[in-house]
Amino acid sequence: MSSSFPRRFGKYLLLRPLAKGGMGEIYMAALGQIDGFEKLCVIKKVLSERGDPSKAKRFLDEAKVVLRLSHSALVNTFDAGEVDGEFYIAMEMVEGKDLREVWNRCVRMRHRIPIEVALHVAREVARVLAYVHGYGNLRLVHRDIAPPNIMLGYNGDVKLTDFGLARSELKEEKTQPGVVFGRAAYLAPEQARGEVADARTDVYTLAIVLWELLTGQQYLPISGLDPGAGLALVRHPKPMPPSSRAPWIAPELDKVVLRALAPDRQQRTQSAEEFRLALSDVIAQVAPRTDPARVVELMQAIFEDVIDKERAERDHFLKEVIPIFRESVPEPAPREMTPPLPLESLAAAEGRVVSQSNGHNSAPAQARRRPTMGGQAEEEKDEEDNGARLPGVTPVPDTAERRRARREAAMRVLAELAAEDAGDTPSPQQGSK
Ligand SMILES: Nc1ncnc2c1ncn2[C@@H]1O[C@H](COP(=O)(O)OP(=O)(O)O)[C@@H](O)[C@H]1O
Ligand SMILES: [Mg+2]
Repeated sequence: MSSSFPRRFGKYLLLRPLAKGGMGEIYMAALGQIDGFEKLCVIKKVLSERGDPSKAKRFLDEAKVVLRLSHSALVNTFDAGEVDGEFYIAMEMVEGKDLREVWNRCVRMRHRIPIEVALHVAREVARVLAYVHGYGNLRLVHRDIAPPNIMLGYNGDVKLTDFGLARSELKEEKTQPGVVFGRAAYLAPEQARGEVADARTDVYTLAIVLWELLTGQQYLPISGLDPGAGLALVRHPKPMPPSSRAPWIAPELDKVVLRALAPDRQQRTQSAEEFRLALSDVIAQVAPRTDPARVVELMQAIFEDVIDKERAERDHFLKEVIPIFRESVPEPAPREMTPPLPLESLAAAEGRVVSQSNGHNSAPAQARRRPTMGGQAEEEKDEEDNGARLPGVTPVPDTAERRRARREAAMRVLAELAAEDAGDTPSPQQGSK
């Protein structure tokens, strides 16, 4: 199978890899047949080890569950299926970052995560967990509440993702007994003992995330320990109030967090809804300005540079890369396939090759300009082309030379974006799945 980008995948165009994790590969993708009317989305595939049918089955189990769910604090999954023996789910693309990336940025910029943001995120996740846990008597449990699975939108949205480890009545294939999935630092004691997770397990792991957001420290410092000692710590944690590390935390908030962190499930906050209500009460007392606007402020403060670059990248995909690809690689059926885009395009999209990325003398004037915010460069091109068109719709280039020039320009911008992205990757500080 070709690994070049963009490439067709059923009714989708895969644009570039986004992430690779435990359950599958994640791609930025586009859906839509007509230039200018594509919708960007995210495709998650099973890893290509097709020899492992239980993995594929777990993936399909996940798909069946998540396709039925609908909640504003949940990444919306709208399609699932199979292409050439590979299973996938398609979901909305969150314009934002996961909480691990937010955390790492904050560490690097020495920017404290505001208490309002910590509380808002926790309350939103508790709200969506209450929905998920109560959904249709399926006894759904997420089982992997951890920073990489909580997305923060630049618009202030908080969205839970990755039901790869969800457990429900829908599951045809039971997880093998004794197998511990998920990351050790975000496991509840009962999970570490190999017991069946329930709604209170998600409450516990959400409380770990909240504790860490409030204190800026890791709740269970297991990274330096040998596996045996680490597991013992996860199984028998000694809960500490957040104020032991962050003295400004009010006693009321300490109490709510500690109750959700009770190692014994019987002593713990019994449901996500109960946790949400307790958080709402404490927010009213200690942080009444908590709302999505605080998330927007934080995201703009720490990702100011990235937000513009990502917007330019999305515009570039929609207005240049996709139309050029469609033109160069016609639909496979019923016509014969033409060769895909040259290898450099793939390499540029993957950030592997950055050759001639600073070449400012090979392309004609209209293709040289790097689109800053998309619209501006588009407008300048519009002046050169005659004929009516919808705003934002890229005109089809009319000569082979123009096509080549536009393609070269597109590849340069992609290469630059990829190179900048590569220099922006922080080292992980928290759980990484
Ligand atoms: N819908 C999405 N929009 C944007 N980024 C996403 C989306 N879904 C996942 N991601 C990113 O990809 C990473 C891995 O996705 P996830 O579904 O958690 O897969 P895994 O099973 O590998 O953990 C996430 O931590 C997040 O950074
Ligand atoms: Mg994940």
